[in-house]
Amino acid sequence: MLAIVVINIFMNQYYIDLKFDIPLFQDESLVNEILDIEGKSKPVDQSYLNRGTIKTTQFNPALVEWLDKKGLSPLCSDFFYRVPHNVGPIHTDGKPGDVGKLNWIFGQDDQSIMYWYKPKADAVGEYGVGPFGTGYTLFNEDDLVLVESAAIKGSPTLVNIGVPHRIINGALNRLCITMHLTDHVTGKQPTWARCVEIFRSEMLDPDQ
Ligand SMILES: [Fe+2]
Repeated sequence: MLAIVVINIFMNQYYIDLKFDIPLFQDESLVNEILDIEGKSKPVDQSYLNRGTIKTTQFNPALVEWLDKKGLSPLCSDFFYRVPHNVGPIHTDGKPGDVGKLNWIFGQDDQSIMYWYKPKADAVGEYGVGPFGTGYTLFNEDDLVLVESAAIKGSPTLVNIGVPHRIINGALNRLCITMHLTDHVTGKQPTWARCVEIFRSEMLDPDQ
């Protein structure tokens, strides 16, 4: 037990690229449908070309089964198809905490960067609920200290979303399909340490 704790403190606390050989969807038609914005009404928020939710039944059943064997189930999922050079708000998904989830990214370039921040003392943010019922907490940049930044390149990438974070997009459109998870042991979303334990075999670079 002590060995696991010692190893975990050296793991990246904000993102870890993973590699599964299990596609997110049985075929890519759903991705193509999201990317095909012709004739579709645009989201009210001009940050997005397209935005919405994905049902668990739309994911590849083999992926859902594989996650189930690992002790995880998809909880809910959103997609965010973001315009070039968009500067996203700094937020946590839900309330601030210790939570890992999975992000699959399509498109983007190397200048599309995710940033993580540590709140200064007393910074608690402002809680709200998005258009699809997902909670978030917004933070002012002045109340934060930048602690990490990276282009998200895994397929997928484990990302820490209980920590304040944002995307500043590069010159290309960027589609993020995100999967929140339920940990079968706790019935809650998995902690970062639990995700590191569960996905250790899928890490592209365990020393990341
Ligand atoms: Fe987020």
